[in-house]
Amino acid sequence: MERIKQALEKAREERFKAGGAAGTFGAAGSTTPADQIMYTHTRTEEVPLAFLREMRVITAVEPGGFTDAYGILRTHVLQRLCEKQWNALAVTSAGIGEGKTLTTINLAISLAREVDYTVLLVDADLRNPSVHTYFGIHPERGLSDYLLDDIPLAELLIHPSGIGRFVILPGGRPLENSSEMLNSPKMARLVEELKTRYSSRIVLFDLPPLLSTADTLAFSPYVDAALLVVEEGKTPVHEIERATELLVQNTNLIGTVLNKSQGIKSGDRQYPPRSDRVVDQLHDNRLLGAVKARLQAWSSRLPGKMRN
Ligand SMILES: Nc1ncnc2c1ncn2[C@@H]1O[C@H](COP(=O)(O)OP(=O)(O)OP(=O)(O)O)[C@@H](O)[C@H]1O
Ligand SMILES: [Mg+2]
Repeated sequence: MERIKQALEKAREERFKAGGAAGTFGAAGSTTPADQIMYTHTRTEEVPLAFLREMRVITAVEPGGFTDAYGILRTHVLQRLCEKQWNALAVTSAGIGEGKTLTTINLAISLAREVDYTVLLVDADLRNPSVHTYFGIHPERGLSDYLLDDIPLAELLIHPSGIGRFVILPGGRPLENSSEMLNSPKMARLVEELKTRYSSRIVLFDLPPLLSTADTLAFSPYVDAALLVVEEGKTPVHEIERATELLVQNTNLIGTVLNKSQGIKSGDRQYPPRSDRVVDQLHDNRLLGAVKARLQAWSSRLPGKMRN
């Protein structure tokens, strides 16, 4: 971890020398370090912890055994980004409902909590934006309003209170022509701006399923890298292969998350047969983490339904 910290520090210094500036979200030119961010320009929303637990946003709740899976994922992702000095990562999966959004959220918070970095999570599933639902917030506008109506970003960003250096750009109103918008020059400029404006920022993009719309493929060349979520026991092997092939052609695929996994314990070398088949099929696409299905049992055991 020490090596990663040093490398991050070096990257930050180099970018700072090159003219970048660490700063608050929505406040261009500020030089506030990441750990002193006050979010004076960013809207803060109260989100009850019980609601986050209920929604399985477990990295926002107190640390414990079930957050380890995301901790391992965070470390691996950070290593890959750091090696190449990348900071814009897209998260996708082959099909619907395999856990892209929840994985992106938990990874984003895990990154924002443990590292001297601010994290911006962009809901780029413009057809079906859902990041805000995991926080129980109801933003009226978001990325689609920026793209269509030039609403300034500073008016769209939301900081869920109490969650470290973490900011969301919600999706906004659902769009029919989402792939056109994601592939537009304006979107390309936005990604570049988000990537380079603040040196201490990691930007995660929650994307739609890769194989059922053109959106993800259209957008993936704009980011530095992508992460593929695979749902154990659900994502068919041929879909994993197809998704991997497409991502490799369009961006840098840094690895795979095996989501809702029954079998892999962190550190285990013995995979039970079902997981083994999935892992075998990943070929040189590295498995970065396994998020366990037990998360479900853990979450449903907890009290505290939505409070408002
Ligand atoms: N590791 C997990 N353990 C238990 N439940 C999970 C896990 N990951 C995701 N889920 C649940 O699966 C459902 C789908 O998750 P999510 O919204 O993240 O999927 P998605 O791939 O983003 O879906 P879509 O394709 O519609 O965007 C949600 O109810 C979520 O809570
Ligand atoms: Mg989703």
